[in-house]
Amino acid sequence: MNRTTLLFILLLVTTALTLKEKLFEKPGHFPEPSYNFRRNPLSEAKIALGRELFYDAILSADNSVSCASCHSPSGAFSHADQVFSRGINDSIGFRNAPALFNLAWQTSFMWDGAIDDLDRQALAPLTHPGEMGADMSAVPGKLQKSQKYRQLFANAYGDGKITEERVLKALSQFELTLVSAGSKYDEWQLGRAELTREELAGYDIFLENCNNCHSEPLFTNDAFADIALPHNSAAPDHGRWTITGDPADSMLFRVPSLRNLSYTFPYMHDGRFRTLKEVVDYYEDNRERAVDNRMRYMRALTPTERAELMAFLRTLDDPGFVVNPKFSRPEIK
Ligand code: HEC
Ligand code: HEC
Repeated sequence: MNRTTLLFILLLVTTALTLKEKLFEKPGHFPEPSYNFRRNPLSEAKIALGRELFYDAILSADNSVSCASCHSPSGAFSHADQVFSRGINDSIGFRNAPALFNLAWQTSFMWDGAIDDLDRQALAPLTHPGEMGADMSAVPGKLQKSQKYRQLFANAYGDGKITEERVLKALSQFELTLVSAGSKYDEWQLGRAELTREELAGYDIFLENCNNCHSEPLFTNDAFADIALPHNSAAPDHGRWTITGDPADSMLFRVPSLRNLSYTFPYMHDGRFRTLKEVVDYYEDNRERAVDNRMRYMRALTPTERAELMAFLRTLDDPGFVVNPKFSRPEIK
């Protein structure tokens, strides 16, 4: 074989490799993800298995509730329009189901950061008696009885063995692919769209007042904060204190991303606000009683400025994400 032929073959191979759709792609303007992909290398078959599991009520004790019951694609994988979601036996939890996207950049999970490893996160809803109520050690046996899952596990893991760890890792794989970076804001960052005058004014207000905690481009600093929300007597919750036992952590909650807000209402850990306007008014009207200086020294905004801020926040909606056929319930393809 001469050199030219060799180079030509090399070129063909590289093109084929680049053309093959990447399973996970870091958007150009995002930082490096925090998830350690080496521990759970993505494959098409494992993602497909995880997606099937995510939408399947077979994982719950009485086959009535799936992950998607509380995290639905149309709500950017939150439970839109539900303050608290319903688990098995009609039990109601005490926290609002968060949206799920850009999880590869997240280092703590749950409103109080109770979990620090995505691969272990699913254990919580799976075994919670008021959510899916499963006996985790019985799950592999249950899946083993299904021809579909025997096939899917064989596709994903050559030996076809069904284990708890593989169930959890496959769920992670599907969740890691839920990347939301197709908003107008993203297009603007990449120089492919322009913001209106109102949206640009809102962006400046955002940088000045919100970016300290809801830091771009993920619109969260992946940390906890206390925004002085009054106690909710219907759903008492001390946030991070429950996890660390340190009273200084009372009322600290995970800073949620501000992407996709149009789909993820109601807002806050207890879903207390129905509209974005209620949220913006809350921050503005409670600055003085804030304990966190980043909130305390926010600027007083006129009604016009509040509207501009909301116009900017709406540029963070990613309409393609919520209808992406790759993320939808598998049967509907
Ligand atoms: C009954 C409703 C319900 C079901 C079913 C459910 N979840 Fe959740 N999910 C929640 C709630 C509520 C929270 C927040 C819990 C907290 O803060 O304590 C949450 C949190 C999460 C988080 C953390 C997100 C973040 O930003 O911190 C992930 C990831 C997640 N769920 C994935 C799943 C997976 C995977 C399944 C299926 C195995 C599942 N959920 C089933 C309601 C549910
Ligand atoms: C000191 C840090 C901090 C600052 C500054 C801050 N936030 Fe927040 N934000 C949080 C935390 C923490 C939560 C979650 C609180 C909870 O649920 O108890 C939150 C929740 C939200 C939510 C609800 C999101 C959801 O999914 O439920 C919105 C919307 C929001 N903030 C918008 C803003 C805007 C707009 C600004 C600027 C005017 C701002 N925030 C400034 C920390 C902050």
